[in-house]
Amino acid sequence: MSSEAEVAAVNQDIDLSPVDSILEPYLGKKEMIIPIMQKVQDHYGYLPRPAMEYVARRMRIPLSRLYGVTTFYAQFKMKPRGRYIIRVCKGTACHIQGSPKIAERIEELLDIPSGETTDDLKFTLEEVACIGACALAPVIMINDNPHGRLSPDKMKEILDSYE
Ligand code: FES
Repeated sequence: MSSEAEVAAVNQDIDLSPVDSILEPYLGKKEMIIPIMQKVQDHYGYLPRPAMEYVARRMRIPLSRLYGVTTFYAQFKMKPRGRYIIRVCKGTACHIQGSPKIAERIEELLDIPSGETTDDLKFTLEEVACIGACALAPVIMINDNPHGRLSPDKMKEILDSYE
């Protein structure tokens, strides 16, 4: 089967042609599976199942083995993530300054638990270890923007400022 036909065969929802370009230099190099999957994730923002199936087929790797590798590493995300990634610091300084209340308020406002993504794919909420801005505790990052010296009642305005 030509690679175009293979793309059409597995692709119901997403364009898999970028995976072809990613795979091109790596075909036959099974030891390069991690860098391949990093590039696939860089492209889609996560690892869509059709892309996993396609990589497994073209690299001649059992799909179960590919899932075994990608679920082992925390860097790989198997679900779509939001445009904005909110990281709530759970380090000691932030914890003492009230980060659990901040996380709670964000969960309430977005109606998702930590680790999840809103249905509109706008926000993903995560908890992380110290992000090195303890002087601003309690602090969160939204993508690359730090927000510090927070209180729960500031959270609505901050989230509303992200379109
Ligand atoms: S403990 Fe939160 S930034 Fe260090």
